[in-house]
Amino acid sequence: MYSLSEKPLISRQQIDERLESLAEEIRGEDFDIILSALTGGFIFTADLCRRIACPKLQIAFIKASSYGNGMESSGKVQISGLESLDLKGKAVLVIDDILDSGRTMLGIKEALLALGPSKVKTCVLLDKPARRAVNIEADYVGFSIGNEFVVGYGLDYANEFRTYPEIWTMRETYGQ
Ligand code: IMP
Ligand code: MG
Repeated sequence: MYSLSEKPLISRQQIDERLESLAEEIRGEDFDIILSALTGGFIFTADLCRRIACPKLQIAFIKASSYGNGMESSGKVQISGLESLDLKGKAVLVIDDILDSGRTMLGIKEALLALGPSKVKTCVLLDKPARRAVNIEADYVGFSIGNEFVVGYGLDYANEFRTYPEIWTMRETYGQ
């Protein structure tokens, strides 16, 4: 059984403030296209990209699935949505909700690099450095957090809690 923390780990106001500074950093890099990883990255992407507000910046969505249980990703990453994109010579920013083991982002990055972009950089709202199992760091990180499972603001547990506007910690509870 799991239950949510009593108060949010990261509040709406903290998210809003961090997104302003992230957007400013990203705007300076002149990306051609944002590739947003569904489903977890959709709210973060929407809130961030409207703050970047750059006329030429395009948005596309990819779906990265790694099979695993509710709280852990497996080694194998499947990516769909790249087939219709021409990324040759493009400066690409990949956006995902969270960098955990790092397998998902590494899988995305490797698949993209094979398509000949001029550069690929990565941006995540949350980073759990203590959980890393492969060698990858994100270029832009909203918040670095500890080794805890979080939900809300796009992040799910078994597809639930995505619509909560702040980030909550999910704790294991015993006895029921
Ligand atoms: P990784 O491949 O282990 O880095 O896992 C990345 C994916 O696992 C993310 O895109 C999320 O969908 C999911 N994930 C990892 N940690 C959490 C968490 O704390 N809450 C919700 N989803 C998570
Ligand atoms: Mg997920």
